[in-house]
Amino acid sequence: MTPQKVVIFDTTLRDGEQVPGCKLNTAEKVSLAVQLEQLGVDVIEAGFPISSPGDFESVRQIGATIRDAIVCGLSRAVLKDIEVAAEALKGARRPRIHTGIGTSDFHIRSKFNSTREVILERVTQCVRWARNFTDDVEFYAEDAGRTDNEYLARVIEAAIRAGARTVNIPDTTGYCLPQQYGEKIAYLVNHVPNIDKAIISCHCHNDLGLATANAIAGVIAGARQIECTINGLGERAGNTSLEEVVMVLRQHRDLGLYTNVRPQELNPISRLVSETMRMPVQPNKAIVGANAFSHSSGIHQDGFLKNAQTYEIISPEEVGAEQSRIVLTARSGRSALAYRFQKLGYQYVRDDIDFLYEAFLKVADTKKEVNEEDLLQLAQSYASAQ
Ligand code: KIV
Ligand code: ZN
Repeated sequence: MTPQKVVIFDTTLRDGEQVPGCKLNTAEKVSLAVQLEQLGVDVIEAGFPISSPGDFESVRQIGATIRDAIVCGLSRAVLKDIEVAAEALKGARRPRIHTGIGTSDFHIRSKFNSTREVILERVTQCVRWARNFTDDVEFYAEDAGRTDNEYLARVIEAAIRAGARTVNIPDTTGYCLPQQYGEKIAYLVNHVPNIDKAIISCHCHNDLGLATANAIAGVIAGARQIECTINGLGERAGNTSLEEVVMVLRQHRDLGLYTNVRPQELNPISRLVSETMRMPVQPNKAIVGANAFSHSSGIHQDGFLKNAQTYEIISPEEVGAEQSRIVLTARSGRSALAYRFQKLGYQYVRDDIDFLYEAFLKVADTKKEVNEEDLLQLAQSYASAQ
């Protein structure tokens, strides 16, 4: 089976920037866009041009700067929005307009006070209008996660007929289970007659902690684009995390799917985004968290020191992280203690370690982590007692 590419659509600068406190200025956005292109993403969603003059200018400057990746601007299914997005993207070498509308009954009835038939007409109208400005139009069916599959299939068929080349199926509220989301994508693959004319995109939110699992279920079912953000930033509990989906597909090559993202850049860009947006990464975050390659319990440390793969499925070098850490706590064992002493230049034999271990545990029980200074003191006391 020839591996198939999954397009990586990064929305850190649009959905990611919607996080309270994460607002970026134009210079910060342009500089992050350059790094995202270096990372190897295929599409950069640069912003929502009609939302503010500042966002318009950011999209304009990113479009004028980025040469290889597609630069995308978001719009609602409103003709003026689409025109403004097109204007902002005028200087882009590969512009994409991302337009769409809510398709669940919550959106149709509560938000628009409308009907399914009227919304269908707006789908056709907005995609057709966007096609006047670029061939690369992506349509989103907001809240597709809670949209009835039969109606969603009609919406997607209409969007493709009107000229959408990518059809985005957002689980806007992070509601779906992976199996449900996968079935939704499979339903579209099997029931939309012109589906082969477009790429299906997964855009999943993390309200139940399932955004990555859902996006992966989507590509297993036939989608070929994932919308994601660095560090999983995004509205409320966030979006699918870019680093997670990239590494899931690398770890599970048997799925026959790959991306063009350079994994060694994942940790550097995670740090850069965290610093620029002033949004710390949780320590236990997969791939890029401070503890992603730390081992602290005795059983794990012993296994890791014998063979790193016993407890690590990814090596830190592969994802540009710092070396794995053996952290000393009251749960650590003798091999970890010997290893850390060895790193400080002390070559202790078994009897030494047995003795030192008792003293170590007394210190460890009083602290969260036993550090280098504590170890040097233990070594000194041991030497004086000899
Ligand atoms: O979550 C969502 O539905 C979105 C769309 C605007 C694509 O972000
Ligand atoms: Zn979203």
